[in-house]
Amino acid sequence: MNKHVSPDFKTPTEIREESEDVGRNTSRNPTMGDVINTRYSRRGFLGGSLAVAAIGATVSPLALLSAREAHAAAGSVFDFPEVTAGVDENHHVAEGYDAEILLRWGDKVFADSPDFDPTAQTAEKQARQFGYNNDYIGFVPIDGNSDHGLLLVNHEYTNAELMFPGWAKVEKDSEGKDKVVMGEFTKEIVDIEMAAHGGTIIEIRRTDGKWAPVFDGTKNRRITPDTEMELTGPAAGHDRLKTNADPSGRKVFGTLNNCAGGVTPWGTYLMAEENFHGYFKGELPADHPEAANYERIGVPGGWYNWGNFHDRFDIAKEPNEANRFGWIVEVDVEDPNSVPKKRTAIGRVKHEGCETIVNGDGRVVVYSGDDERFDYVYKFVTAGRYDASDRAANMDLLDEGTLYVARFNADGSLDWLPLVHGEGPLTAANGFNSQADVVIETRRAADLLGATKMDRPEDVQPNQRTGKVYVMLTNNTRRKEGDENPANPRADNAFGHIIEIAESGGDFAATRSTWDILLKCGDPSIAEVGATFSSATTENGWFGMPDNCAIDTAGRLWVSTDGNSGSKTGRTDGLWAVDTEGAARGTSRLFYRVPVGAEMCGPLFNPSGDTLFLAVQHPGDEGLATYENPATRWPDFDAAMPVRPSVVVVTKSGGGVIG
Ligand code: FEO
Ligand code: CA
Ligand code: CA
Repeated sequence: MNKHVSPDFKTPTEIREESEDVGRNTSRNPTMGDVINTRYSRRGFLGGSLAVAAIGATVSPLALLSAREAHAAAGSVFDFPEVTAGVDENHHVAEGYDAEILLRWGDKVFADSPDFDPTAQTAEKQARQFGYNNDYIGFVPIDGNSDHGLLLVNHEYTNAELMFPGWAKVEKDSEGKDKVVMGEFTKEIVDIEMAAHGGTIIEIRRTDGKWAPVFDGTKNRRITPDTEMELTGPAAGHDRLKTNADPSGRKVFGTLNNCAGGVTPWGTYLMAEENFHGYFKGELPADHPEAANYERIGVPGGWYNWGNFHDRFDIAKEPNEANRFGWIVEVDVEDPNSVPKKRTAIGRVKHEGCETIVNGDGRVVVYSGDDERFDYVYKFVTAGRYDASDRAANMDLLDEGTLYVARFNADGSLDWLPLVHGEGPLTAANGFNSQADVVIETRRAADLLGATKMDRPEDVQPNQRTGKVYVMLTNNTRRKEGDENPANPRADNAFGHIIEIAESGGDFAATRSTWDILLKCGDPSIAEVGATFSSATTENGWFGMPDNCAIDTAGRLWVSTDGNSGSKTGRTDGLWAVDTEGAARGTSRLFYRVPVGAEMCGPLFNPSGDTLFLAVQHPGDEGLATYENPATRWPDFDAAMPVRPSVVVVTKSGGGVIG
């Protein structure tokens, strides 16, 4: 049929571009995105399919030494030759480092997984293979070993137009303009998409300096939207979580749109459910009590067609199912048969990620951003204390505690406002009859408390060494002049910024702390952008759209991006090392960049700091990309193979700590 099932259906590329919302408002004066566009449009980055012989990491021959000297003079804590920013079909890592592919979409996860054949894919095969669009990466060492552990990888979403041969086509629209037209979303296609979502747990080991998966690892596991899970915490068993299939309100199948995540101090895997609204279709029955709740969180999003074949994704048929997503999922990776738990105490929003830290008093603090324009930054403080000598005693710590939302005050102070039923406006008078109502409608509760509306909060990362917390705010071009606030100071914020929170006295459970802006992102050579990188930052060193981040074993900050592209900034996304202390504060330099069309996710260092894991998400997804005509065929560069999202492992040539 080669038609969209719904006239409003958009490709994942279109959805993401709209979500990024850079330079799309033609009714106003040119945005900074347009300025950048004009500035770089003459470069002509991409021809059709580009021929490349090998997977490899390359480096520019530009004057790296002088940049390195400038960084050293500024007192930078990093020392590596900077990669040259740009756009092409391959990835690039700093000179002196090796970047190898560890796992690709379709690779085996188990010894008996079927080989990947893109022309004969099935849901059953996909459920035994590495999923699509790898995002968060976690690592749980085996026996305390830095060379051997479990790799935990989220598979956020699927790009059907890049996955299925002959399925999507480029055709003219009614105005004669080329567009990608999706094929028919059959049950077969939908079920493969579902099996490509979720997460992968796979043993990996370094032997003779080379990392490889261990396919017969006894803890290897695929988690998908069909995996049985349990709802726990204050909302578990509540009427608002009950469905025809689950009258208990405690048993749910699967997890959706797992973007970033975390690993707890007791070695469990946290999978954040982000844009879950996109998987629901249909209309609520008239006057349904969830109408306002669903409006606030965007249900139904109608991005996917799963509801055509699975009633639970159609809110006309299962009005409560969407209340069972938007949570943080905790997986016990030591038992491949464990039932993952949706920890409702941490709230229901579009969680980008979920990073934990043990506070000085033993309580565990969980940070999470709600990734939507004008939404909020949260933290959760457990009631109980972490016991390093008794793993089992920690397994339900995330069920009890206090959820807070951030209010960034103009004087540089920060209040963490408790979302507690019965306190302040969170009472029956406002429709909150219990803590279950507060966590199910976390956003509305936070609205009433007067939380600060942010420019799309992505990763929120605590640094144990310094007591500081870094908040990635990716962009918000819908913030109008006059709507700025001190923590989100730019209208039409196309390039995002990074906030640094200093928790009072290093107490991560503090309810009053301070904050500062570490960086306003974008090209610092264009005055109107208002970027604030240090003067030691080279033209390769600046970035826009911070998304994920990592703190390495030395306590240094690394930032990855989502939304740079040839047409917008003349550079792909990548991983930048960012100085946060002393005279070098605000100095940034490029360590790795992705192939065209990709976003950089999952930066993670192993405990010894000599290995960096990176997730290259949606490579080739730029322009009118289809299976037959992706913007790159990375990483295989084989005409018989599609472009494949992959996990990359970076090590220093000859060994040593990275960066
Ligand atoms: Fe899935 Fe907020 O990026
Ligand atoms: Ca993002
Ligand atoms: Ca993200």
